Amino acid sequence: MLVAQALSTVFLLLSLIVFAQPADDHDFSRISVEVTEIPAPDASTTCSDLSLGERIEKGEIIVQLSNALEISEVDYLVESALKAADEQEEEGLTCPGDGGFQGRARMPTLRAAQREKCLHNALPKALSDKMEQALVRILAYIDLHLPSIATTLLHTEGPPARSAVDLFLKDLLDYNKREPAINVYTSGGHFGIHADLKALTLLFPLSTSGVDFEGGGGTAFWPPVSLEKAKETDPTLVLVPPPGSVLLFGGVVPHKGLAIEKGTRLVFVASFLRKPRLRRWPNGTYTRTYN
Ligand SMILES: *[C@@H]1O[C@H](CO)[C@@H](O)[C@H](O)[C@H]1NC(C)=O
Repeated sequence: MLVAQALSTVFLLLSLIVFAQPADDHDFSRISVEVTEIPAPDASTTCSDLSLGERIEKGEIIVQLSNALEISEVDYLVESALKAADEQEEEGLTCPGDGGFQGRARMPTLRAAQREKCLHNALPKALSDKMEQALVRILAYIDLHLPSIATTLLHTEGPPARSAVDLFLKDLLDYNKREPAINVYTSGGHFGIHADLKALTLLFPLSTSGVDFEGGGGTAFWPPVSLEKAKETDPTLVLVPPPGSVLLFGGVVPHKGLAIEKGTRLVFVASFLRKPRLRRWPNGTYTRTYN
């Protein structure tokens, strides 16, 4: 009897969690979209009849969504993330390296940590769920308002067939190592120049320049050149968006998390592509499908 009651409670909780995720009642009308070209010194004329998704894929633009997170939501995320970082420091346990990351903590969502089979630095469950909720909200916004991003970069056919949200919920996305994750930077902390090499990167700045940190910060971008070339040249664009924003960019874009001088800077990042299904033919060749 007790067991049955406990089971039904667990089931109820599970269904609440599953169905509560997409039913996020955030007001999409507050979100605004801004497109910024990444200046390319020797660029041929940019072709304006490409869709937003195609321009992201080619590494021509950064798309910024503003007011995607409420300030109260950001405050909760930052407070809980810093508390988690403190607790993890006390424990002193770490997971195998994160190439290029130089900072205080890089904390993956619970699911990302489970995937990598190292749970030491994972975000606490409640915070992890909140972060995934914010991620799902942005994917839902993309499905609804920026569909070319989903169709071009994630091979979706749009709801009700496959949507970006659906890909997330059915675990059909393939992420960079230990992502989605919150990165915590303190003085001197940065992320070296790299390209994510996935289809799409979502970067959520969670700290305010001049308040939470001073000097530097923000993300520097280069046009889609080789990393060697990018390392020899200055970035052509630096963005320091306010917390609550989300930056969207393609996997070919070299970028760098700029060092800060003072204070603390947090970002939430997720780079991913859609997992293809590989089909092996009798002649030994493979084809990728996305259904
Ligand atoms: C192998 O078989 C597939 C399916 O029949 C076909 O599409 C493909 O062209 C073949 N490839 C080669 C190299 O024969």
